[in-house]
Amino acid sequence: MSTIFDCSIVHLPKIENRAGNITPVENNKEIPFDIKRIYYLYDIPGGEKRGAHAHKKLQQLLIAASGSFDVTLFDGTNKKTFHLSQPYIGLYIAPGMWRDIGNFSSGSISLVLASHKYDPKDYIREYEKFLAYRKTINKR
Ligand code: TYD
Repeated sequence: MSTIFDCSIVHLPKIENRAGNITPVENNKEIPFDIKRIYYLYDIPGGEKRGAHAHKKLQQLLIAASGSFDVTLFDGTNKKTFHLSQPYIGLYIAPGMWRDIGNFSSGSISLVLASHKYDPKDYIREYEKFLAYRKTINKR
């Protein structure tokens, strides 16, 4: 099972131009999975928190497409917080991480590239169940 050490900041390409910049992301090039879904969080009210769940299979790349926010990852043993604030920097999240996302700047947009389509069965939404899940997984 993945640990926090499998999660990392990914420097994405930045094609600069005086008319603006472009950041491309391709399957299995900048990220170690095939993108099956893209979603984005926006209109996030000040002080709001998102996340508070883990995924069993899903891999994701989170990007602050606009503004900034903090992502705290926990693998059941170790915890790490990442501050995302640049559209050319992504955070790769391996499966099995509890994630808390907050401290959104006003007008921020969180772009998420995901390895699977939406599947409610892939979520672990209760913290106690997550801890128990990690314990059984780690014993394997
Ligand atoms: P959730 O993943 O819990 O959001 P967050 O982690 O940002 O707080 O999703 C919130 C709601 O949106 C939940 O009812 C499921 C729904 N949803 C979809 O229907 N499809 C999707 O691709 C996603 C990400 C969420």
